Amino acid sequence: MKLVVGNLKMNLLTKVERDNYFKGIENSLMGRNFKEVNFVFCPPFVHLEAFIRKFEKRENVFLGVQNIHEEEKGRFTGEISAPMIKNLGGKYVIVGHSDRRRIFNESDELVNKKIKVVLDNDMIPIMCIGETQEERDDQEIKKVILHQLSEGLRDITKAKISKIVIAYEPVWAIGSGLTPTGDEIMEVRILIQKTLINMGLKLEELPIIIYGGSVNLRNIRENCSESGMQGVLVGGESLHPMDFIKIGEILEK
Ligand code: PGA
Repeated sequence: MKLVVGNLKMNLLTKVERDNYFKGIENSLMGRNFKEVNFVFCPPFVHLEAFIRKFEKRENVFLGVQNIHEEEKGRFTGEISAPMIKNLGGKYVIVGHSDRRRIFNESDELVNKKIKVVLDNDMIPIMCIGETQEERDDQEIKKVILHQLSEGLRDITKAKISKIVIAYEPVWAIGSGLTPTGDEIMEVRILIQKTLINMGLKLEELPIIIYGGSVNLRNIRENCSESGMQGVLVGGESLHPMDFIKIGEILEK
């Protein structure tokens, strides 16, 4: 099974825009049957219910959000909790996206707490990891990945780790139009798998690992199929319904 996740970020500003997006997705899905690919839409919180209503009958479409608070309930003005999302019908939560690490100073420790609260609420965290340009220039990719994995997954059982989704998203590739080569992505995939095996997971227990960062129709084969990734996390291109669904179609083959 492959996963095509759309991170819609802070877009779809009006109901009209949202409804046009729905129409685009419906039209693109029409007549297409997906057996190997599941789509996950992660819209802004305010649109979640509408997305769920729209897609709840579709077998291959799931809903998620882009962030969550680490506590379940209480005096946290302006925050949204995991039980709220679960109770609306959400299934996935993006955790530790580089936008959040960078702009909102989210630490590995916080990412760890958020992953735990998502798992406690029977949802699936999509844990984002990846190096910055500077770290890449300093040849520190391995160090960064090892650190983010060991800290982010601290005190989480092997059984639970095997349920999460890990998204390798090099920070410099996000929104830049640049991507690593298929071989470079493959190397990181293997590094992630080895790290998890060193943490005690068996081969058959390894979680789904996907790639993210400037994914589009032209590079999807190299970024995903040729690198042996099990799916993609798509930002910019997920705002174009036709292209987004086509990405799924290419991975279906
Ligand atoms: P991008 O974003 O596809 O626009 O590079 C990916 C992401 O932010 O997850």
